[in-house]
Amino acid sequence: MLGLKAFETNRDIYSPNRNIAPLSSEINESGKLVVGGCQLSELAKKYGTPLYVFDELSLRTACRTYISSLKKHYPGDSLPLYASKANSSIAMCAVIASEGFGLDAVSEGELLTALKGGMKGEDIVFHGNNKSHNELKFAYKNNVTIVLDNHHDIELLKNIASDKNPAKLMLRFTPGIECHTHEYIRTGHLDSKFGFDPDDLKSVLEELKTYKWAKLNGLHAHIGSQIFEVQPHVDLAGVMADTLKIAQEIGHPITDLNLGGGLGIKYVKEDNPPSIEEWVEVISNAVVKACRERNLDLPRLMCEPGRSLVANSGLTIYKIGAKKIVPGIRTYLSIDGGMSDNPRPITYQSSYSACLVDKPLNTNCEKVTVAGKHCESGDVLLKDFFLPACKSGDFLAVFGTGAYNYSMSSNYNRIPRPATIMVADGFVELTQRRELPEDLLQLDVLPDRFIPRN
Ligand code: LLP
Repeated sequence: MLGLKAFETNRDIYSPNRNIAPLSSEINESGKLVVGGCQLSELAKKYGTPLYVFDELSLRTACRTYISSLKKHYPGDSLPLYASKANSSIAMCAVIASEGFGLDAVSEGELLTALKGGMKGEDIVFHGNNKSHNELKFAYKNNVTIVLDNHHDIELLKNIASDKNPAKLMLRFTPGIECHTHEYIRTGHLDSKFGFDPDDLKSVLEELKTYKWAKLNGLHAHIGSQIFEVQPHVDLAGVMADTLKIAQEIGHPITDLNLGGGLGIKYVKEDNPPSIEEWVEVISNAVVKACRERNLDLPRLMCEPGRSLVANSGLTIYKIGAKKIVPGIRTYLSIDGGMSDNPRPITYQSSYSACLVDKPLNTNCEKVTVAGKHCESGDVLLKDFFLPACKSGDFLAVFGTGAYNYSMSSNYNRIPRPATIMVADGFVELTQRRELPEDLLQLDVLPDRFIPRN
């Protein structure tokens, strides 16, 4: 199989998060880009653009690497959970459930999607810093573990859970650990809206002990996302083991320790995240060491990867349209999508890698800026990017879009969401159909008195 040498240094076949392009990417005899055995330009013509494409091989490889690494490096029980905020669809949940993962959901929508995708309630944890009564009721009824984030959760649950059928709970706290990632995606430092403040922990644990409706099984903390360092998770294991000890002394028979997600991925060639196995090894060793030092039995180890599981399995194909040359300044290439299907560049100034699907090797390049079609000057996906000469109608693949693209997409400018397909071994399956402009009108209501007369 031909690797995409233009993008891949250090190709790592078991760690999709260290490969910009999906693992099954190859260049065929005609020099065109193929993923999952399917030529991308053919998929674009058949399914239209923009188009989200998922490589099943990368997805399953990432899942299997998490599972096998936990088995190899952690001597106790373990359960990885998919942070479905990264990309929530019924098909995605079904694939990931079939690999033995549980799931983390943060809304009734994500819960419903996971259940429809075949995740069992007992393998789902429900997060959120402002869960509604209805969401909590739905989670409780479906045997989902609820992650207590604050006192409001406790107050609401008092009227939902019964002594006969206690709610299964985890407790989330702010561990006070800094990591170097974008400010908006850091959650573990003390000034955070998520989780109980450490100063509050002991009294909450004591309070929970007095409720028969509450069964506290686990502790949770999450320190951030797109993290390349491993030390913050080593520190986290220590902080969590301290809390585990306190909780057990208060009488909670805690079995689960959930260290959250956060492993980074390679968006551009300068990115050098740890591999999935390296990350799992580090957190496993850290938890084992922290527990031994405190004479604690090994808990069931949980983690919640989102991005590192799905991002590099996905890519987006766009069609290039208008070209505008601003002499001496910039050449703009406009594509048929943009900030509505990928809001990450405008939100976090994130960088991506891309290529022309029928001229994937970036040779004889010119500098261009790839702009979206929305009415915002900031709607730019790739700034000052090198691409071979291209014309209107050519297809562009942007890599690493499997996480936090569809899930954060919008209908800004009333632009319908793209379709999603999954490819493997030359087969294609539609997993989310393309929205149509008419779909966007479905929730609109026109009151009688606004109906135009004559
Ligand atoms: N667990 C919890 C409680 C989380 O809040 C998150 C992500 C994860 C797990 C998964 O983290 P991951 O493995 O994906 O890093 N929209 C941003 C990312 C926000 C992450 C929010 N929480 C982005 O596009 O970069």
